[in-house]
Amino acid sequence: VCGPLMDGFCRSVRYLRVSVTDRCDFRCSYCMAERVQFLPRKDLLTLEELDRLCSAFIGLGVTKLRVTGGEPLVRRDIMGFFRAMSRHLETGALRELTLTTNGSQLARHAADLAACGVRRVNVSLDTLDASRFAALTRRGQIAPVLEGIRAAQAAGLRVKINTVALRGLTETELFPLVDWCTAEGHELTFIELMPMGEEGAEARIGQFLPLSDLRTRLAARFTLQPLAETTGGPARYVRLEESGQKIGFITPLSHNFCESCNRVRLTCTGELYPCLGQEGASDLRHVLRAPESGVPLEQAIRAAIAKKPRGHDFDYTRGIPKGVMSRGMNHTGG
Ligand code: GTP
Ligand code: 5AD
Ligand code: SF4
Repeated sequence: VCGPLMDGFCRSVRYLRVSVTDRCDFRCSYCMAERVQFLPRKDLLTLEELDRLCSAFIGLGVTKLRVTGGEPLVRRDIMGFFRAMSRHLETGALRELTLTTNGSQLARHAADLAACGVRRVNVSLDTLDASRFAALTRRGQIAPVLEGIRAAQAAGLRVKINTVALRGLTETELFPLVDWCTAEGHELTFIELMPMGEEGAEARIGQFLPLSDLRTRLAARFTLQPLAETTGGPARYVRLEESGQKIGFITPLSHNFCESCNRVRLTCTGELYPCLGQEGASDLRHVLRAPESGVPLEQAIRAAIAKKPRGHDFDYTRGIPKGVMSRGMNHTGG
């Protein structure tokens, strides 16, 4: 018998990533165009609609909810959403409520997030160098991000740093980041650059840095101990024997992990993307807003999940970008 929210490949969906806004106060070059056109606010799901949708998924067996964006903390009413979702932690239906953030607004939200039952946050940080950070994010400053990370820790949240591997940058940043995370007590995860967004797709070929390269560099200085544990996300972990530091690797290009995928993505307009690396989405907003259409939400969700493809076709490794998505990463929140 197929369990809750099973797709056509017998993978059950337990992890919902919900992008609550496509907006962001940064413009990371690998994520969005410098002059990006954001969605009109009227197209966004209201808090009440987000609540109904996410609660329906939780009712169908989702146990992990990650709030993403754009930058989730730039949405003005976002803490209302966390408060609403925290009731599912209290009933035990939801095991984990968490977010991925650029950290710029984390300082003022950290304590409230912890009060809503958030236990850990993933913060994107590709370099510790202030000028490289400003160049890469095009609008960001590193100081508020570091302050946000400290505030999160002070509020009792565990912090995981996400670093996109970029040729020409990560080579110099690798050891400073590893050493800093070790000193500060943060986990660290490296992510392979994915071909999201047509703009700059060609330029990204030269920036692609396979994580096997980073692993080799790490292994020259540390003894790497592979770990079996996972968070239910796509990362595979090692521990550095010398320091105990945990390091994750997310390798969609050099090692495809789609066969064990357990996640789907809901956008801020109510589209359900069953795969990060494929174009197809199902419109759930329409089902919410037009109940007279007669399709129950649960049935629409199941039908959307049944369309989950086997996996993505991303490829940068052969010198031409393949499987390039027309949408930027900010649309589906990674
Ligand atoms: P943990 O709960 O800490 O394991 O987090 P996570 O890795 O699930 O979430 P996070 O938002 O930190 O994502 C890190 C990176 O993994 C992002 O760049 C995502 O795009 C990427 N990622 C997550 N899921 C998938 C997936 O199904 N396919 C691909 N290709 N990348 C994914
Ligand atoms: N490839 C890989 N990771 C990306 N992210 C944003 N754009 C890309 C991309 N093109 C990362 C962010 C954030 C996470 C949600 O996705 O840095 O950590
Ligand atoms: Fe914003 Fe994150 Fe995209 Fe950077 S990667 S522009 S912080 S949404």
